[in-house]
Amino acid sequence: MDTTLLENRYNTLAEGNCCLSCGGAVNYAAVSEGEICVDLGSGRGTDVLRMAGQTGRGGFVYGVDIADSMLEKARINAEKLGITNVQFLKSELSAIPIPGGIVDLVISNCTINHAQDKQEVWNEIFRMLKKGGRFVISDIYSLDEVPETCRNDSQAVAECWGGAVPKDKYLEMIRNAGFENIRILEESDPYGKGSIEVASFTVAGTTPKDCVCCGS
Ligand SMILES: C[S@@+](CC[C@H](N)C(=O)[O-])C[C@H]1O[C@@H](n2cnc3c(N)ncnc32)[C@H](O)[C@@H]1O
Repeated sequence: MDTTLLENRYNTLAEGNCCLSCGGAVNYAAVSEGEICVDLGSGRGTDVLRMAGQTGRGGFVYGVDIADSMLEKARINAEKLGITNVQFLKSELSAIPIPGGIVDLVISNCTINHAQDKQEVWNEIFRMLKKGGRFVISDIYSLDEVPETCRNDSQAVAECWGGAVPKDKYLEMIRNAGFENIRILEESDPYGKGSIEVASFTVAGTTPKDCVCCGS
């Protein structure tokens, strides 16, 4: 699918002050000093900068986003605040330029619904995390399957609803990636978005501490 509409939408929104998120993943993240964290779809960098304060200089936070204006805004905000233990990377979520097995925490707010192949994104999250690492992710899900015409409509996907999937499918992708301790931390009542019904939720989980297959 052509992502030009999505990038244009977020490049325009970067200039405003409106809230972009559908949940409060960072509020549940319990960031500790020295941790390595990643925010997928970091937007203007608000959550990255907050986590960078919590990790202290012994930790590091990566923001990942596809929209140039969002990345620029985030870098300017970091510079204004003198925060140096952060890096904002331009990347799709399906192939993130962060080495595997080095990350303690991945958060994301209202972003994964945009991705065309969400299983790939969950596999990437699993790949980046250390053993026993965790994710806390807010997103939307659809109450029913989204009709194919909407799923293939790049405007509907850019507007955070065309790419939504039902909750059971969402949780299945997380399980398929290999996560355990998967739990829903908060969930909204259903509401209308575009031409469908959705709900927002925040979900958390961990990677296994030990590899059962090799005993390491
Ligand atoms: C709804 S905004 C949320 C921004 C931020 N997390 C917040 O809570 O304010 C979604 C962000 O994800 C980015 N994004 C959407 N799809 C993406 C993709 N496939 N790869 C990387 N970034 C993406 C957008 O550019 C935008 O900045």
